[in-house]
Amino acid sequence: FNVPTPVNEPVKSYAPGSPERKELQAKLAELRANQVDVPMYIGSEEVRTGKTRTLSPPHDHQHILGHFHEGDASHVAQAINAALGAKEAWENLAWEQRAAIFLKAADLLAGPYRAKINAATMLGQSKNAFQAEIDAACEIIDFLRFNVKYMTEIYSQQPPVSGNGVWNRVEQRPLEGFVFALTPFNFTAIAGNLPTSAAMMGNTIVWKPAYTQIYSANVLMEVFKEAGVPDGVINLIYVDGPTAGDVIFKHPDFAGIHFTGSTGVFQTIWKTIGENIKLYKSYPRIVGETGGKDFVLAHKSADPKAVAVALSRGAFEYQGQKCSAASRAYIPSNIWEDVKKYLLEDLASMKMGGTEDFTNFINAVIDEKAFDKISKYIDNAKNASGVEIIAGGNYDKSKGYFIEPTVLLTQDPMYTTMCEEIFGPVLSIYVYNAEHFETVLELVDQTSPYALTGAIFSQDRYAIEMATSKLRNAAGNFYINDKPTGAVVGQQPFGGARASGTNDKAGSMINLLRWVSPRTIKETF
Ligand code: NAD
Ligand code: ALA
Repeated sequence: FNVPTPVNEPVKSYAPGSPERKELQAKLAELRANQVDVPMYIGSEEVRTGKTRTLSPPHDHQHILGHFHEGDASHVAQAINAALGAKEAWENLAWEQRAAIFLKAADLLAGPYRAKINAATMLGQSKNAFQAEIDAACEIIDFLRFNVKYMTEIYSQQPPVSGNGVWNRVEQRPLEGFVFALTPFNFTAIAGNLPTSAAMMGNTIVWKPAYTQIYSANVLMEVFKEAGVPDGVINLIYVDGPTAGDVIFKHPDFAGIHFTGSTGVFQTIWKTIGENIKLYKSYPRIVGETGGKDFVLAHKSADPKAVAVALSRGAFEYQGQKCSAASRAYIPSNIWEDVKKYLLEDLASMKMGGTEDFTNFINAVIDEKAFDKISKYIDNAKNASGVEIIAGGNYDKSKGYFIEPTVLLTQDPMYTTMCEEIFGPVLSIYVYNAEHFETVLELVDQTSPYALTGAIFSQDRYAIEMATSKLRNAAGNFYINDKPTGAVVGQQPFGGARASGTNDKAGSMINLLRWVSPRTIKETF
């Protein structure tokens, strides 16, 4: 049995007048006009608790897209029971049958659901059409198709030596128990990938998304159901994180967590699991992709225009709310004036506003909490000595949570915004003496506890080699002459180390192997 090698889903341009733009605009209008009533999905039930919360676009927070039904600890317990109840039939289904379901889900997202999942991501998470397309359409489609390919490779790997009356084989069993998928707001693709990658390998799932991603999670669930994911295999619940964790991490059948989110939450979860370790039947698999403080480092030989584009795109696409976003930059003094000129020109061309207007590049940040946190960093910078705001610095939450793309120039390479994850449209730049490249390499490596993505810009091979070597542990995804965002499934497996995660590369065989527990069988004839 062989699954053909997938190709990456082509990215649609949504050019003015194109059929895809018209279809997407019609879907946006339809979703805006029709409120949804979003249930939890537990086993075969659509659960409506009556305790509803509003869903609104971050860029238009008085508009109501619909409501979701919030659950409590009892719903977490029900979801666990549903997952455990569905386990035997699901894990005994031939893996080719499981693969067929997820390939169908990919085709549904590529075709009939493409406009809907993009529109839901644009409205619910305030992504512009292009950012939605590369996330909610292409990346999740790629995750599903490439993971099926990796899955076939895992199931066909066998020990190379048998014979003389002995047959050795390895059975890739799913984990014993249920898997908890705990997902963030910022990528619809990640929210879709975390439950499906573990489910593909025969596990059943309790999935809890961020409340700010429920609007598009509901569409993903619709797709999974239509593709044929059986009841109970993926159970989607809306319960606040600590309440969900309290039930899940005390359950003896808790077999693993597939997490993406902030470093602080992941560390709390890891500690709780450690404290409860004696409760579990097996050591749980702990997979977490967490925060970042991603860098762009330019060498004195770098092309200033390429550096400026990497900064404006890398830092401000999706309002800097990518774990991979460029948020600290180290620019040599000899090219700084040119980099600054091109950067400010590019920023001046970026329009800000709602996602329904396709000419807006910058949209809103996710919610009021994020808005308040990010604007506080900007206010502090306004009052700090040795820090200059060279672009942006204004914000307004009257209609939506809008923050201008903001660039801080700091004389102190250890200034707070060079070290802490802000997760918003704030880029900090330190201009260094162009002759002190080696000192700056040390600085880049030591400034932050994170190690997710980073980029070196240089036209000098020796400098590239030096950076690649000295920054070996500073980034799980390292870019040479490119921005540090936009990893593509099947091309650049994604994930970081240090405080950025367990580096089990999303969309790779490494990740899928975390969701199986192999049994070795020796049979003697
Ligand atoms: P978050 O940590 O606030 O939330 C992630 C999930 O955990 C949500 O479902 C949330 O409800 C839940 N949660 C929060 N507190 C909890 C608790 N105490 N117990 C149990 N569950 C809890 O993250 P977010 O704001 O949704 O996402 C942004 C963060 O995710 C950033 O730090 C970003 O860098 C990171 N991220 C990392 C990657 C990566 O691949 N490394 C990708 C995307 C996002
Ligand atoms: N995969 C996403 C990126 O690389 C997080 O930007």
